[in-house]
Amino acid sequence: MGYRVAVVGATGAVGNEMLQILHETDFPVDEIHAVASERSVGKEVSFGEEITLKVQNLADFDFSKVDLALFSAGASVSAEYAPKAAAAGCVVIDNSSQWRMDPEVPLVVPEVNPEALHGFRAKNIIANPNCSTIQMVMALKPLHDLARVKRVVVATYQSVSGAGHRAMEELFEQTRAKFLQQEREPKVFPKPIAFNVIPHIDRFLEDDFTKEEWKMRVETRKILDPEIDVVATCVRVPVFVGHSEAVFVEFHEPIDIDDARNALYNFPGVRVIDRPDRGEYVTPIECVREYDVFVSRIRVVPTVPFGLAMWVVADNLRKGAALNAVQIAHKLVEMGLI
Ligand code: A2P
Repeated sequence: MGYRVAVVGATGAVGNEMLQILHETDFPVDEIHAVASERSVGKEVSFGEEITLKVQNLADFDFSKVDLALFSAGASVSAEYAPKAAAAGCVVIDNSSQWRMDPEVPLVVPEVNPEALHGFRAKNIIANPNCSTIQMVMALKPLHDLARVKRVVVATYQSVSGAGHRAMEELFEQTRAKFLQQEREPKVFPKPIAFNVIPHIDRFLEDDFTKEEWKMRVETRKILDPEIDVVATCVRVPVFVGHSEAVFVEFHEPIDIDDARNALYNFPGVRVIDRPDRGEYVTPIECVREYDVFVSRIRVVPTVPFGLAMWVVADNLRKGAALNAVQIAHKLVEMGLI
């Protein structure tokens, strides 16, 4: 049996990947609908190489005619439409930040906490975590099982695609303008992004952390363990696709670096590329369109009793967003929940 599926935000950077990945992973689809704003009605998007879909307007889309909707159209759209879709009997997998910390909404990375899916009927909504959180918990989970993570200090190097299509255009236009000795005023980002880095993603909160940094802390706790301490500095860098993270982890118990490497190596969805003697480590360009989370530069931190540092890279549009959402859909089917 197949499912009737809608992708909301289908014209966007993540929505587009959702369609591709549903197709690539052979999700059992009987019907597929591409949905976006009124602006895009009639535009065409592709589903695989052969099928073209006409975009439909979210404002009058009838969710009772679909079984499953993958949302990636921003938090305000999800705030308004996810409950409507859910009330119409449709299961919503939401990529925005809107529902992630709602205690009645599971926040799921299928390799890490699939059991949380059991609670999804409370609201009929499942939240996809933040892109930076997903790749970090993928690398933390096998290590947490070995020696219990106590504290994480992380600095991120996040690509512009995490901020959507217009952000990618802004990097392109500013880069080109620079070579033509012209200036382009920032519109999407608060400062110039070409040839620059910006330690400011999402808004500043009362404690002077940004909301993106807060998300990494609270989401990691919800997914992995409420006792873990996370301190993040989130930085936007002039990379189109692929988020990188320098992650420092302190453990409660002793951890052997070879055991840590093996645990990461054996964890589904993680690939260890770590031969510094041969210059082998991963950069974001190399992980574009890949499904896995890559871990490199694993090393012992000598300044705390039990500490490791590592470099974690993933395609933020795929494992960080669309792939994880589609994997949640597959997991629901596999667990017999839909
Ligand atoms: P549209 O292209 O019609 O504006 P990105 O994150 O790459 O900027 O993409 C955002 C996605 O969310 C796009 O598909 C966009 O559609 C969609 N979107 C944004 N606002 C709305 C809205 N009010 N109603 C429906 N879809 C929306």
